[in-house]
Amino acid sequence: MKILNNFTRTVNVPEQGIKLEGEEPSIRDKYKDDIERVLISKGCLKKRVEHLASEVAGAFEKVREVNCLVVLKGGMFFASDLIRLIDDETELRTRIDFIQASSYYNKSTPSGSVKLKESGLLKGENILLIEDIVDTGGTLKKLQDYLKEKGKFFKTCVLLDKGLPKSPGLKIDFIGFNIPNEFVAGYGLDYAGMYRGMPEIVIVKKELLK
Ligand code: XMP
Ligand code: MG
Repeated sequence: MKILNNFTRTVNVPEQGIKLEGEEPSIRDKYKDDIERVLISKGCLKKRVEHLASEVAGAFEKVREVNCLVVLKGGMFFASDLIRLIDDETELRTRIDFIQASSYYNKSTPSGSVKLKESGLLKGENILLIEDIVDTGGTLKKLQDYLKEKGKFFKTCVLLDKGLPKSPGLKIDFIGFNIPNEFVAGYGLDYAGMYRGMPEIVIVKKELLK
């Protein structure tokens, strides 16, 4: 895998966002009224996810397989890119299952309670928990406690970290980007069900958030 040097560690995203040289990310007209700006361009996401795939592969190398547990719905595109890279470019065999954790219920502030809905795999060891974003860490902590209860070996991979104080005991093994404390959407993340299909990470206009 060929990776640009500055994507070989967690990337700190400045307030004004990041893009690759030569990329000119812009908001499509249909979203102009809702979206403030692009925070992480398509190219940057691609490079960093490529590197995350090799980091994860290194951590699971000895066991030769990785059981990916994708947190729905926000982690969908991140997980899909990450898992296909792991399968395509490394020696690891993969399994995929999903778990749903609802904490935001269409709003832009945490509700404080987290509901889990599991679809049933979790029989294997060697789980990679794949999540879109960590804010206070409440959601991830709940998922991790659940896996610990079941006695599973797991690692946690998160695309975005807002850098806020985290729930005690939370352990994140792989982080894609440290981002400013803004409400973001795109690349699987939504606001009220919208913007998941946007290929970059964008900042939603504050006046839109309730
Ligand atoms: P906690 O506080 O539990 O929150 O770490 C993490 C969960 O809240 C959602 N979340 C967001 N979703 N844009 C989103 O689309 C955001 O900026 C954002 N911040 C938090 C997300 O579902 C995550 O699992
Ligand atoms: Mg989530």
